[in-house]
Amino acid sequence: MQEEKFEELISGLLDRQFGTVPHFIPPAIEAALREQLRAYDADGKMFPAGVGQHTSYARNEQLRGDVIKWLEKDNSPAEKAFLEYIEAFIEYLNKTCYTGINSYEFHFARYEAGSFYKRHRDQFKTDTGRKFSLVVYLNEGWRAEDAGQLIIYLDEQQITILPEGGRATFFRSDEIDHEVQPTNRNRLSIAGWLKRV
Ligand code: OGA
Ligand code: MN
Repeated sequence: MQEEKFEELISGLLDRQFGTVPHFIPPAIEAALREQLRAYDADGKMFPAGVGQHTSYARNEQLRGDVIKWLEKDNSPAEKAFLEYIEAFIEYLNKTCYTGINSYEFHFARYEAGSFYKRHRDQFKTDTGRKFSLVVYLNEGWRAEDAGQLIIYLDEQQITILPEGGRATFFRSDEIDHEVQPTNRNRLSIAGWLKRV
């Protein structure tokens, strides 16, 4: 079951440069992560992200409007369960594709209504450690009119993905331009990177 989801993400990436799969994480973990994100948000623990190095928050706002908090296993059972699931995925990826991933980082993110993340790539020019990007959504009952789509730019086409709860999307951090379109409601996710350092 779990391996089928892993396989779907990986074969998508190999066949057409990105993988996307609904219900990647078990519903109970998804719900626990959503609650955890909301609790952090209510407690004022989420902040605007830094973009690259030497970039001010004021400049960032032109590029991205989300607030984030990095996941840590020791912070909550939900984070522990999620990151252990990610470790199982990394083990599968390394075993099947010889990718040599040996590190990762993931953050919660919330985009409030009206916010977005303009077209970008995830690998910093000065830090090539990020090899694969993986985004998992935590939204209940997302509808097309809620917008906030992830757009993936491929050579010949653009792919549109709705941020439905449990869905995961996977692509190479150094190759794929992508953006988050302006959202019409609070948009919850976990975004992260598999790294070789
Ligand atoms: C990111 C990102 C995409 C998404 O955090 O770098 O591109 O759909 N997120 O949330
Ligand atoms: Mn990105």
